[in-house]
Order: sequence, then C-alpha cells, then structure tokens
Amino acid sequence: MLKFAMFDTKPYDRPAFERYAKANEIEIKFYETKLTADTASLAEGFDGVIPFVNDEVDARVIDALHRYGIRLIAMRCAGYNNVDVKAAYGKVHILRVPAYSPYAVAEHAMAMLLTSIRRTHKAYIRTRDFNFSLSGMVGFDLHGKTVGVVGTGRIGRVFIDICRGFGMRVIAYDTFPAKDAGIEYVPLDELFANSDVISLHCPLTDDTRHMVNAESIAKMKKGVVIVNTSRGGLIDAEALLAGIKARHVGAACLDVYEEESDIFFEDFSGHIVDDDTLARLISMPNVLITSHQAFLTEEALDNIARTTVENITGFFAGKTSANEVCYHCPRQSKCQSGHRTPCF
Ligand code: NAI
Repeated sequence: MLKFAMFDTKPYDRPAFERYAKANEIEIKFYETKLTADTASLAEGFDGVIPFVNDEVDARVIDALHRYGIRLIAMRCAGYNNVDVKAAYGKVHILRVPAYSPYAVAEHAMAMLLTSIRRTHKAYIRTRDFNFSLSGMVGFDLHGKTVGVVGTGRIGRVFIDICRGFGMRVIAYDTFPAKDAGIEYVPLDELFANSDVISLHCPLTDDTRHMVNAESIAKMKKGVVIVNTSRGGLIDAEALLAGIKARHVGAACLDVYEEESDIFFEDFSGHIVDDDTLARLISMPNVLITSHQAFLTEEALDNIARTTVENITGFFAGKTSANEVCYHCPRQSKCQSGHRTPCF
C-alpha cells in the first residue's frame, strides 16, 4: 500500500481524499501543519507528499524529501510557484492538478467584482441591522464597460465568457495568445490604459511578479477595479494601497495576497495581525478580500482529490503524465519529449 503525507490539511479537504485514497488503496496521513524545512521530517517513511499552495517546497525541503527516498511531490493545486522546480529536477518528480474547476475560480472573480461594485456585502450588514438607507450604495453597470483579462488560459477564458454574458467589451493580454478564440488581444500597456476592470488570471513567475506596481497603476484609468484571483505576488500590495489612497484605483477585489502564506486559511479573529499593509487594505471601504477561497467548491474539491490520486497511481504504475511539472518544460506544450518518456 502506498503511503502519502498530506500537509496543510483542512477539514474540508479530507472527505474527497479519504474516498479516492480508499478506492485506490493509498494510505494518507493528514497533517494540519504546513510543509516547511522544519516539518519535512514528518514525511520520512512515506512514498510521497501532497502539498498545497502555501507549503514551502523549497530546495531544503526537496533535498530532505530526496534523502528520505521520496520520489513524488503530488501537488493538490494548479499553481506551483511555491515549488523550487529547478532544485527538484533529477531528484523528485512533481505532479499537479492543472485544472479542477476553472468555473469555481472565474465565478468567484465575478462574485467579488459584483459584490464590490454593487455593495451587496455592505447591504447585507445594513439590512440585518434594519438599516434600509441607500446612501453610499451607488454602483455602476458592468454592461458596456471594458474588462482587461490578463492570462487567457482555462480560468481567464471562462471569466471572459462570463463577462461577455454581462455585455462587457473584453480585451486581453497573454504571452501565448489563444488562436481562434475570438479574443481581442492588445499590448499590456494598452490593456492597463483602456480597462474599467482588470482581472488577473496568469501564473506567478519572475516575469509576472508585481506586474501591478506603481508604474502600471499610473497607466490605468482613474477608478479602475482590480480583481486578483490568481496569485498575490502579481500585485505590489504597497503600490496598490498607495493607488487606493490616492483615489486612483476605484476598488480592489483580492482573493490572494503576496504575504498570505502565514495568514490565509487561519482564524486570527481576536489576535493582532502584524501585517500593516493587509490591515490597511482590509480597512478600506473599496477593498474586498477573501482568503484564497476561489477554488472552494464541491466540484473542485472532488476533482482535486480524484486527479491527485490518479497522478499518484499513474506515477507508481510507471506512466508519464502531462500533469508533470518539469524544470525543462514548465509549459507542457513546450515539452521536447511530448511526455512520452520520463523527464529523468
Ligand atoms: P492556465 O495555465 O490555463 O492559464 C494561464 C495563462 O496565463 C496561459 O494562457 C499563459 O499563456 C498565460 N501567461 C503566462 N505567462 C503570462 C504573462 N507573463 N503574461 C500574461 N499571460 C501569461 O492556468 P489557469 O488554470 O487559467 O490558472 C491561472 C492561475 O490561477 C494559476 O496560475 C493560479 O495561480 C491561479 N489559481 C488560483 C486559484 C484560487 O483559488 N484563487 C485556484 C486555481 C488557480
């Protein structure tokens, strides 16, 4: 029986993983703690680990896993910016779940956008207090507005479809534009300059880190609404805060935050949060923050568990997989072997 250690486990993760693991005769030990250099020793004796978005799968962790004879890191998420893919090459294979529900994330992005601009979160609190005043509740129509979508992969394209349903004009930027998708691609600066709403759906890489910064915010329309359901590091949070304080950015909807790893997914009510930038952002009336929950639907949790378990069983059956993340071909379409042979 294969034995896996799952880190950063929350109660809602367990049912689907327990179901699929049992059906495939895999034993999973669920750890609540994150995988870090300090906790990597918990993986000793296991065949592999199952980390999530905020586990620190850096070179030290990878070396430790390699020492324990672990050959597989089965990420239970799409993004792998928290994995030192280069350090893993030749030591430990990395598999991920490239798509589990693009609808979950895209629908959450739209939910945040609508909440923010139509103030439904404020209305909910007001009417619960029998305050039926509409002062300060004026929103704006999405119909006819321009939305700039950065990254037109699986999630970006679902978001585009949703925006089209609202009668929005869609412009987009992607370093690898989709062919035959009927999407109007424009240079990034043009997208920044012409969008009423900007929604980020590209991965976090060295190229995309802080793509929203003081300089790019200055190029944006006054009153722009920025939506980020991708990765916090895409936005320089200090610059965003400055843009909001200067009344240049009209609103921000953030499901992710650059320094989220020690904060998101945990209950800090009743505690003092040390991150002043996050605290100031939360205090803004035009900032809406959710705690990296865009993926959190029944369908997505089921797909995550099923694909992770399939990745594990396939790997140990000696199969190659398009879900492998490799230092040499982080974009699977660029893979020289077409994944017909193992990368190492
Ligand atoms: P995808 O791989 O299908 O699409 C990403 C797109 O971004 C691709 O079209 C790619 O060409 C493009 N891209 C790459 N570099 C770019 C650059 N420098 N500038 C502009 N575009 C660039 O990925 P998918 O499934 O659509 O996911 C997008 C992101 O959403 C993931 O990287 C992940 O960080 C985030 N995510 C967030 C979740 C949440 O719960 N908040 C859940 C799942 C994913």
